[in-house]
Amino acid sequence: MITFTAIADFLLYTVFSYLAGSVVLKFVPEDKKPRISESKALLLICVAGTALFSLAPLIELTVFLENGEGWIGTFLTVLLESGNGHGWLVTVALSLLLGFAIYFDTSKYNQAYYLILLILVIGYFSHVASLSLWSGFASHSLHFFFMVIWTGVLLHIAWFSIDDSNWARFLSWFTPYAVFCVAALIATGVFIMFYFVEPESYANSWVLPYGQMLLLKHLSIIPLLAAAFINGFLNKGRLLDRTWLKVESLLLFFVFLFTAFMSKQAPPHEIHHTFQAEGAAPLVVLLKGEQSIPFDASLDWSVNGIVLFVIGILLLSMMVFSSYRQVSSWLPFLFGTGFIVTVYIGLMLNVSF
Ligand code: HEM
Repeated sequence: MITFTAIADFLLYTVFSYLAGSVVLKFVPEDKKPRISESKALLLICVAGTALFSLAPLIELTVFLENGEGWIGTFLTVLLESGNGHGWLVTVALSLLLGFAIYFDTSKYNQAYYLILLILVIGYFSHVASLSLWSGFASHSLHFFFMVIWTGVLLHIAWFSIDDSNWARFLSWFTPYAVFCVAALIATGVFIMFYFVEPESYANSWVLPYGQMLLLKHLSIIPLLAAAFINGFLNKGRLLDRTWLKVESLLLFFVFLFTAFMSKQAPPHEIHHTFQAEGAAPLVVLLKGEQSIPFDASLDWSVNGIVLFVIGILLLSMMVFSSYRQVSSWLPFLFGTGFIVTVYIGLMLNVSF
């Protein structure tokens, strides 16, 4: 069931990003962006996607609660009597309004208004808001908002721009805009993270599935930011290179994937308690063997671990250097992926719990 709801969340982040990108670019003057092909049908499919993919937690709850009284009955109980059910009904209503706004080409302010309300609904029913309502609601909504307004523009330019007109003028605003969004994303991300794990328990939390996904998320952000740096700074003054933008967006999908699986796990604010309930993360058992309480994660350097770490750093450097060479578009993506895999395993081999 976790895979089903995580994939639904991954798709939810993607459709939200595409919708946000479309709305943000409506506020950008024509001479400050390349020409972009935009299909109303795809926008409406994404709107339907926001309602459909956010239904997954309700289906999960229905499966969990169903005890032979019938699916429909249980689903209606979940829908009408649970907070998530009410949240979904509000999401459907707002998606319909946003769908009408897009279909009838209403003002960009109108579309932005409904999109922001949808982001606030996600924030209000988020994991962290269930721990601390108002600061959780605010931090998660801001985290999600800055994520979609940055990645949305990236997805549109990388996959739907049809020429490279106004490229320098586009970069002149998009680079500082992206830097601001990423800084806000990291700040709100750290703020949310500290609700789930104390700074001093961050490494201990790696023994748990949530901690593993959080670590993989952080590692996957590094090549993503390297690609963003290449697109925003190293490729500045060069012609639009959609390949590198596509590489950046594909690396982004790793962050989405690890986040989607992370938010389905039991948060690590009581590591020993969660360990007793859930056990160690499968990848930890695979790489480090069975684990037992108490944990005290500490560096325990190993030759294999160090070698993998060095290979990872080399792969990241080759990713950056490949922006100076005409290489196949897939190589930088493979270098970035290789960095995540080698540094992750290297780290796991250099840590003992
Ligand atoms: C490129 C940067 C990032 C992207 C694209 C990103 C994306 C996301 C998304 C889409 C969510 C929503 C999850 C959901 O509600 O289902 C999320 C939640 C979260 N993010 Fe990020 N994030 C980024 C950076 C960070 C950073 C730097 C941190 C921590 C240092 C972080 C920590 C978190 C946490 C703890 C959550 C809450 C997950 C949960 O609900 O359990 N994020 N992030």
